[in-house]
Amino acid sequence: MIELAFSILAANFAHLADEIRAAERGGGTIVHVDVMDGHFVPNITFGPPVVKAIRPITKLPLDCHLMIENPDAFIPDFAEAGADMISVHQEVCRHLHRTLQLIQQHKVQPAVVINPATPVETLIEVLPMVHHVLVMSVNPGFGGQQFLPLALDKIAYLAELREAMGLNFRIEVDGGVAHDTVARVVEAGADMLVAGSAVFSPGKTTQNARELLKLARA
Ligand code: DX5
Ligand code: ZN
Repeated sequence: MIELAFSILAANFAHLADEIRAAERGGGTIVHVDVMDGHFVPNITFGPPVVKAIRPITKLPLDCHLMIENPDAFIPDFAEAGADMISVHQEVCRHLHRTLQLIQQHKVQPAVVINPATPVETLIEVLPMVHHVLVMSVNPGFGGQQFLPLALDKIAYLAELREAMGLNFRIEVDGGVAHDTVARVVEAGADMLVAGSAVFSPGKTTQNARELLKLARA
């Protein structure tokens, strides 16, 4: 099943509940929450209080993408706030295995993210413990950037590894996923599609989500 994880980074924050419901009506299956700290990435967004605020307004799983320098210090807060999945960047985790264990200990699904410049090989040892691998198809920090095709080979390689290792983690892709790129990422093997600017647009969010999913599942 191909899932649409809509990124609320592109939503109107003054109407977050309505925005989430609109994307959900269009068939969106996961709420993707982009957490940025102004250190690991050159932008600041939101933290656990926003996760806590949206938790009661939807039954969809909350997928928290932590673009922060010290995830270990905040994992308990995100778990407490109601995160269902937490992904951490390989690039900031000196002890990636330990950080993934910490997420598991908080009864949250653990996931790992790699930037465009980070090779898939750095993840091989932890693949058995993750719910999903998130392949960045832009450099993280902002919505609305252009899709980087180098992500396609990484997605395909992860799909091969999954098969060869007999595992069942999901493959998520994030950045520039839109009507013109969605077929390629699905063909490469991605099954969790993050989309922000391709989904949220005043008055068109439900329709955008529906059309994107239609293209993805074609
Ligand atoms: C980028 C974020 C993405 C971003 C995607 O740092 O991780 O989730 O919101 O936005 P679009 O879909 O607009 O590229
Ligand atoms: Zn993201």
